[in-house]
Amino acid sequence: MLPLPLSMLLLLTQSQSFLGEEMDVYSEKTLTDPCTLVVCAPPADSLRGHDGRDGKEGPQGEKGDPGGVGAPGMPGSPGPAGLKGERGAPGEPGAPGSAGVAGPVGAIGPQGPSGAMGPPGLKGDRGGPGEKGAKGETSVPEVDTLRQRMRNLEGEVQRLRNIVTQYRKAVLFPDGLAAGEKIFKTAGAVKSYSDAWQVCREAEGQLASPRSAAENDAVTQLVRAKNKHAYLSMNDMSREGRFIYPTGESLVYSNWAPGEPNNRAKDKGPENCLEIYSDGNWNDIECKEERLVICEF
Ligand code: GLC
Ligand code: CA
Repeated sequence: MLPLPLSMLLLLTQSQSFLGEEMDVYSEKTLTDPCTLVVCAPPADSLRGHDGRDGKEGPQGEKGDPGGVGAPGMPGSPGPAGLKGERGAPGEPGAPGSAGVAGPVGAIGPQGPSGAMGPPGLKGDRGGPGEKGAKGETSVPEVDTLRQRMRNLEGEVQRLRNIVTQYRKAVLFPDGLAAGEKIFKTAGAVKSYSDAWQVCREAEGQLASPRSAAENDAVTQLVRAKNKHAYLSMNDMSREGRFIYPTGESLVYSNWAPGEPNNRAKDKGPENCLEIYSDGNWNDIECKEERLVICEF
């Protein structure tokens, strides 16, 4: 039984060019002698038949080698749908002035455990609304314009502050002193009252007019620095005994030396002008006297 199918198998494995010519030969040999094309078992292992009958069945052959890996099977049926995804996390806090941003949707559910890919799991619940955003600025065109102008002005103010600081330092160096918003400055010159008055007027200031102890102290420091008594702006020319500022206003502060103003010059003349000593005290003197010029600005 075995030789015939084997011969057929051999025929089928031959190249096409030999197929037609060799077919008859193999066919003939196969019919006359089955062992010609097949390696038969050794004669000792089997008994030749007698009188055309088959011999006894030989012993069982050895176990064959394991077969090769089979072809892939058919795809399995789709797996069950994935589980529903978990609820999404709450959204991020909203931007200032705007509503909170909604949270992200839930994650896709896991896939089925086996078979072909199952359909996606249901979407998770929608995340809750984000936290309310910080209070924002109202956006109105006119207001925005004003805000921009304000920012511009703030920048300009800062620029001017820097310039003021620069000029202040330059003015106070040397022989200058600041008291509040007032600046006292001397050029070291010594002049009569009218000339001293003129110097300060031309500088667009006026003679020192301390209206407080602080201002008086500042002037005193300059007097000490130059070691010269200085004129103050006030006088009592219009009315003896009533000293006034250049504006005509009566004194709001004074620091007279003991016994002053006495209106008594060495030559017995009237004393209608005012000097300041190095200790900060005041004395009325004749206006023709020459004193240090200290202007205030
Ligand atoms: C004396 C007096 C003073 C006067 C001055 C005139 O210092 O104390 O009051 O003004 O002389 O030079
Ligand atoms: Ca005097």
